[in-house]
Amino acid sequence: MGPVKPGLPLSIFDPVPIGIDEFGMPVLIRLIWRNLLIGGEPGAGKSALLNVLVAYAALCANCRLILLDGKQVELGQWRKCADAFVGPNIVQALVLLTKLQKMMDNRYAFLLDCERRKVVEKIQTLSPVTGEIIWVPDAFLPYVVAIDEIAYYSATIGDKRQREEFAALLRDLVARGRAVGIIVIAATQRPSSDIIPTSLRDLFAWRFAGRCTNDSSSDIVLGHGWAQKNWSANSISPNNPGAGLLIAEGGSPQLVKTAYLDDRTCAAIAAYAADMRATVTAADRRALRAVPAAA
Ligand SMILES: Nc1ncnc2c1ncn2[C@@H]1O[C@H](COP(=O)(O)OP(=O)(O)OP(=O)(O)O)[C@@H](O)[C@H]1O
Ligand SMILES: [Mg+2]
Repeated sequence: MGPVKPGLPLSIFDPVPIGIDEFGMPVLIRLIWRNLLIGGEPGAGKSALLNVLVAYAALCANCRLILLDGKQVELGQWRKCADAFVGPNIVQALVLLTKLQKMMDNRYAFLLDCERRKVVEKIQTLSPVTGEIIWVPDAFLPYVVAIDEIAYYSATIGDKRQREEFAALLRDLVARGRAVGIIVIAATQRPSSDIIPTSLRDLFAWRFAGRCTNDSSSDIVLGHGWAQKNWSANSISPNNPGAGLLIAEGGSPQLVKTAYLDDRTCAAIAAYAADMRATVTAADRRALRAVPAAA
C-alpha cells in the first residue's frame, strides 16, 4: 500500500484500505454507495476499525464527516474534521439525523431535476474558460456518517419514542442514502433485534464481525447460516483484537486483521486533516480534480 503522500487528498470514491488478509495482502473496501455494519464482543476492535475508516474519510477532500459517539472519546479526536459531532445526547442525535434526512430528500430532488440516479465522483461539463469538455466534481459531496455503539442511542438513553425515532431515522438513511452519497458506518457489540430492527441490519452491504462470544452472535452480524458453514467469528482468539470476518453483499466471509491507529497517530492525522479541510476550499477542490476529459 505504501505511505499516504501528504498534500494529495484521497478520494472517498476509491477503495479504502482497512487491513490485511491471511496472506498479508491489503484488504480494501469500496464504501461509496454502500454502508458498513461492525459487530463483535467488547474489546473486539470495533472502535479501532471505525477510527481507521474515519481517518481515511477525514483525509478525503471530497467527503464530509458526521460523527455520533456515546462515549465521546472513540471518535472525539476527529471532531474538528467533522461537520457535526454528537456525544451522549439523544435529542441532538435526533436533530442531526432529521437534518440528514431532509438533505437526502433535497439531493434526490436535485438528481431528479438533472435526470440522474446517483452521485458520482466527476461529471463532464464544458469549461466556461476554454469551451472544451472537462471533468469536474459532482454538485454535492458524499457524507460519511460514523456511529459508535448504536445501542446507546437505539436501546439505552432517552425514552422509548426517542429510541424508536432514532432507529427509524437511521433505517431511512441506510435504506435510501446510498445513491446520494450518504455512507453509514455503524458499530455495535451485538446487532440483535432489540438493538437495531432486523430490517435495518439486513440493509448493510458490508459487515465486519470481530470476535463474537458465540456462533449465533456471529451469524447476527454476518447473516444467518454462516456459522453452520464454519464461518464463525467465535473462532477468533480473544487475544487477537482487530481480527474479524468481513463479508460483502452476496460474497463469502474473509478473514481480516484490521489496521490499528494509536491515539498519537489519530491525533496527528486528525490535526493534519483538519488543517487540510480548513484550507481546501470548494474552488480548490474543483481545481484539484478538474482534468481534461481525454485524461
Ligand atoms: N487492529 C488491531 N490491532 C491491534 N490491536 C487492536 C486492534 N484493534 C483493537 N486493538 C486493541 O484492542 C483494544 C480494544 O479495541 P476497541 O476499543 O476498538 O474495541 P471495541 O470492540 O470497540 O470494544 P467496546 O465494545 O468495548 O467498545 C484497543 O484498545 C487496542 O489495544
Ligand atoms: Mg468500542
